[in-house]
Amino acid sequence: MRLRNVSYAKDKIAAYPDYIKDIAFNETFSIDTLLKDPSRPLHLEIGCGKGQFIHTMAQRYPHINFLAIEQYDSVIIRALEKMIEIPCENLFLLRMDAEHIATSIPENSLEKIYLNFSDPWPKVRHEKRRLTHQRFLKVYQKWLKPNGTIELKTDNKAFFAYSLMSLNAYGMMFRFITMDLHAEDLSGNITTEFEDKFKTEGPIYKLIATFEEDKS
Ligand SMILES: C[S@@+](CC[C@H](N)C(=O)[O-])C[C@H]1O[C@@H](n2cnc3c(N)ncnc32)[C@H](O)[C@@H]1O
Repeated sequence: MRLRNVSYAKDKIAAYPDYIKDIAFNETFSIDTLLKDPSRPLHLEIGCGKGQFIHTMAQRYPHINFLAIEQYDSVIIRALEKMIEIPCENLFLLRMDAEHIATSIPENSLEKIYLNFSDPWPKVRHEKRRLTHQRFLKVYQKWLKPNGTIELKTDNKAFFAYSLMSLNAYGMMFRFITMDLHAEDLSGNITTEFEDKFKTEGPIYKLIATFEEDKS
């Protein structure tokens, strides 16, 4: 993705502390202080980009709290602008690298983690940066409540295959896999910016997985 610098992004982010926080390297924070009603279930999107998915989810599911992480201020500024236009008191944005969030998310606190069109990092030497690398799975496992899920969508077949193998090797259970999401019933599907851009160019892959065996 070519990144266009948005010169006013930092100042605008600083002007809306109720909607977004810029987290410095190694800074920790308490999610309970960011959320209006911390008693609600909590979902997290990592790499939210311009925020279409998470902002729509927050409007559709007001009883759920949503946190969204994006590393670039020039990108997350577009999510903030959506929030300014249509405020959602159950959504909070974090400008930060997901690498640094581990200690700020309490164990057993999340019901869902969304990985939408994550950067595929195709070079083998960059494998550790993929958000479905086992070092990230270890962290997600701590954050998720029992039966909590990871929901992943991508247009990248190689990244999808890698993610299936990585989650499977970690012992995760798959609740849902499709090799062509847009050929399925899409009534519950909320698209992302990347999904809208690439859905006509080839299949969108999706999986839902959990660390626990479903005993119900
Ligand atoms: C390909 S874009 C997809 C954006 C959005 N999810 C969508 O589907 O339209 C991937 C996004 O993830 C962000 N990202 C990748 N790795 C990240 C990390 N470690 N921490 C925070 N954001 C990250 C990138 O900056 C980029 O905006």
